[in-house]
Amino acid sequence: MQTIQLGKTDLIVSRICFGCWQLSPKFWGEVPLGPWREAIKKALDVGVNFIDTADAYGDGYAESSLGDFLAKEGLRDRFVIATKFYWNFEREKRYPDTSHDYIIRECEASLKRLKTDRIDLYQIHAWDPLIRPDEVAAAFGQLKKQGKVRWFGVSNWNADQIRMGLEHFDIECLQPRYSLLTREIEERELPLCLGKRIGVIAFSSLYRGLLTGKYPRDHKFTDTRADLPLFQGKAFQRMMDAMDDLKPFAEKHGLTLPQLAIRWILTHPALSCAIVGIKTAEHIETIAPAGDAILPSTDWWDIADIIETAEEEAKKAD
Ligand SMILES: NC(=O)c1ccc[n+]([C@@H]2O[C@H](COP(=O)([O-])OP(=O)(O)OC[C@H]3O[C@@H](n4cnc5c(N)ncnc54)[C@H](OP(=O)(O)O)[C@@H]3O)[C@@H](O)[C@H]2O)c1
Repeated sequence: MQTIQLGKTDLIVSRICFGCWQLSPKFWGEVPLGPWREAIKKALDVGVNFIDTADAYGDGYAESSLGDFLAKEGLRDRFVIATKFYWNFEREKRYPDTSHDYIIRECEASLKRLKTDRIDLYQIHAWDPLIRPDEVAAAFGQLKKQGKVRWFGVSNWNADQIRMGLEHFDIECLQPRYSLLTREIEERELPLCLGKRIGVIAFSSLYRGLLTGKYPRDHKFTDTRADLPLFQGKAFQRMMDAMDDLKPFAEKHGLTLPQLAIRWILTHPALSCAIVGIKTAEHIETIAPAGDAILPSTDWWDIADIIETAEEEAKKAD
């Protein structure tokens, strides 16, 4: 498994990052913890040293599950841990909160749940229209000085928002959505990050599993995917046809389809890592080979064309 320096930080991370959103029952149903814990152990065997979570995943459940297991197994120092704040879930209806006091309070809460004395990468989960950048900067400065956070990042911010943030505090990493089916950031955000040496760790790069091509044609999704158009009816059939069309590319490079989808994003020069949503040891073990080498550019463009055409047709299909 290749490793990479994350932006300008001193963090050396595997190009595959273990994503923990799957421990959010509201979105993914009840994911059994036994196999999930096995997956954490397996991650180390296959060279994955980077974990992404968030306070909001299961309202603290994902962070607590991770913290308890790492503490019990004495594994905290083997991983680089990234987490996020933004959703204030202290009252029943959650809302975005990037105020100074909330950041300080929520960081303490995350440290407690994660059973650690430091967060390696602390990310603002999304853009808050009420953000007060000088307040964020003051909170970040305090947390860094106290050694509670090593580096800061943002998620789901566009290029203008990143530029605004950079005038007030250091942003070492962007966590955007990026996959063969979601390429909007190629225009502005990826060039900005490449130019400023901001690390990029992409999420939903398997398009929540669709780009694995692994589902039977009559599969019915019952979790967060049940409402997404490409997971339904004729659109789903068209996308599965496209996955069949990608098989020769996967075979040519000795890869599976999920590995091909991940290697495709990691071929972009701005990309540091792919965060993959993991439930089982098999998931992490079989995706790990995607973190080695990159694709030739001819294949990169041909693969992109196949998915672009399929998506256009899928959208018109139903
Ligand atoms: N910052 C943000 O706003 C944000 C938003 C979303 C996600 N994230 C982060 O990014 C991570 C990944 O994103 P995601 O969960 O949306 O989607 P994803 O990684 O595109 O898809 C996850 C799904 O892919 C399938 N999968 C994973 N590994 C596989 C393998 N080796 N072989 C076959 N199938 C495999 C599993 O599907 P099945 O369940 O069907 O087996 C899994 O549930 C999250 O866990 C989270 O850490 C961040």
